[in-house]
Amino acid sequence: MKNFILIVLLFTLGCQESSHSQSNNIPGIGDSGDKAAQTPGEQGEAPLTSDELFSMVNERVIQASCIRCHNSERPRAGIDLSTRELVDELIVAGDLEKSLLHEVIATGFMPPRGTPVSDENLLLLEEYILSLTAN
Ligand code: HEC
Repeated sequence: MKNFILIVLLFTLGCQESSHSQSNNIPGIGDSGDKAAQTPGEQGEAPLTSDELFSMVNERVIQASCIRCHNSERPRAGIDLSTRELVDELIVAGDLEKSLLHEVIATGFMPPRGTPVSDENLLLLEEYILSLTAN
């Protein structure tokens, strides 16, 4: 009889334990959450090339916010941003701090009026500058 009670007790405890570990498995949801969080870095699309990044920067930053003052016809401060070569002259590959183009935007110096370059587009420019070391 004692043995029977003991077995029932152990069984009950066992069940509790396993149901316990089941509820502990709820963090298993956290596991898949982690996986989801890793997905963009691990198997996201291939990183954009410098060329792709440049055309995005050109469209969203240079053309949208700069070209009306820094064009080849009448470049303010002598700065012409109408070609990639000219834009790249204001960049030190891989070095945000030494890149004048980055500095004037990050500090809010440029554009001097109108809508400032968004954080998202500044990040895009940073990605472009950093991508240049890979080439
Ligand atoms: C409304 C006209 C205007 C717009 C738009 C504009 N700029 Fe300028 N930019 C100027 C003027 C004027 C100067 C000279 C300012 C000064 O020296 O005080 C200048 C100077 C600069 C300089 C030289 C800074 C230095 O320290 O030598 C850079 C680089 C520059 N602009 C980049 C840009 C970029 C990049 C954009 C777009 C995000 C932009 N500018 C938008 C008018 C403009």
